[in-house]
Amino acid sequence: CRIVVLISGSGSNLQAFIDTLHGRQANIVAVISNRDDAFGLERAARAGIPTAVLSHRAFADRASYDQALAALIDTHAPDLVILAGFMRILTAEFAHHYQGRLLNIHPSLLPKYPGLHTHQRALQAGDHEHGATVHFVTEELDGGPPILQSHVPVLSDDTPESLAERVRHTEHRLYPLAAMLYANGRLRLLDGRACLDGAP
Ligand code: GRF
Repeated sequence: CRIVVLISGSGSNLQAFIDTLHGRQANIVAVISNRDDAFGLERAARAGIPTAVLSHRAFADRASYDQALAALIDTHAPDLVILAGFMRILTAEFAHHYQGRLLNIHPSLLPKYPGLHTHQRALQAGDHEHGATVHFVTEELDGGPPILQSHVPVLSDDTPESLAERVRHTEHRLYPLAAMLYANGRLRLLDGRACLDGAP
C-alpha cells in the first residue's frame, strides 16, 4: 500500500506511521507540507522518505492550490492519502478526487466539536470523556464517515494542554491501525459508510 502523508506541523502522527507501518504493511512514498517550517519534514527526511513543500501562499485561491496539490500527490500514485495535522480546508473537488482513499484524524469524539479548539470546548462543556476520531474525508469539514474512535477520561484538573496530550497519545495507536486495516483490504468506504471487514 503506497501512502502519501500531508502535514503542516509537528508530525507526531506521521512519526507513529513511520515507527509502526513504514516498510512493513505500507510504504510512505512522500510527505507533503504546505509549510516549509513543519517539523514533520525533518522526521520524514530522517526516515529517508521524500518530502515536498507546496506553499499555499503562491496560489490565488483555494481551488488552484488544491488542483496543484492533487497533481503533486498523484505523481506518487498513492493508494491512500493521510491527513496528519494538515491545517487546510479542502475543496469539494479535492475530497471527491480522493473519495474512499483519503483519511483524517480529528481530536474529538465526532460528531462533537468539528473545527478548532476541541479540547477547550470539551472542558468548557464539562464533558467526562473526550477522544479522537479517524474518518474518511468528504467535502463536509470533519464530517465524513467515522472509522475508529479512541476515548480518554477528562480529569478534574485538566487543562486544554494536558487533555490534548492524553488524546494525542491515543491518536498514535489509532491512526496507524486504521491505515493498516485499509492496507490489508479490511476497511473500505461503501455507500457513504466506513465498512470494516465487510460489516456495515
Ligand atoms: C492532531 O491533534 C490531530 O488530531 C489533528 O492535528 C494534530 C496533528 O498533530 N488533526 P501532529 O502534527 O501529528 O503532531
